[in-house]
Amino acid sequence: MASDKLKSLKDLFEHEIKDLYSAETQLSEALPKMAEKASDSKLKKAFESHLEETKKQKERIEKIGEICNISVKGEKCEAMAGLIKEGEEMLKMDAESDVKDAGLIAAAQRVEHYEMAGYGTAHHYAKRLGLDEVAGLLEETLNEEKAADEKLNKIAIDSVNEKAQK
Ligand SMILES: [Fe+2]
Repeated sequence: MASDKLKSLKDLFEHEIKDLYSAETQLSEALPKMAEKASDSKLKKAFESHLEETKKQKERIEKIGEICNISVKGEKCEAMAGLIKEGEEMLKMDAESDVKDAGLIAAAQRVEHYEMAGYGTAHHYAKRLGLDEVAGLLEETLNEEKAADEKLNKIAIDSVNEKAQK
């Protein structure tokens, strides 16, 4: 985290944006590995399509940086690093393929919930700061994260968890 003093909500907003940018960057590097190791075809596709979304979400943050005239780089999101580390531990574990799929969903849903919290907060800050265009961009991503979480939930409940139980 940068050592600059946070003097206002605007400063905190910028900090949140940098944090989210780091989170998306890290996730875009982790998702291909998760897609590769997923056995269930729907789960594999879900990871692949969320990778494409994640790349667009990163670009959206870069656009926010341009609009707000701030650098989006320079911070590391330690929480995302931890969540990804847990996901990678699951990738390496000796597990039945269906059980591993269930574990990958559990790790990925933690990531989505973390992102939903971050984007929800940043969206509210942007609205309060009168940054309407930025708020719109953040809301778009927030909705994508919610949809990604729902999709994972459905894959787990409709098939993967049942296969893992056997
Ligand atoms: Fe994301």
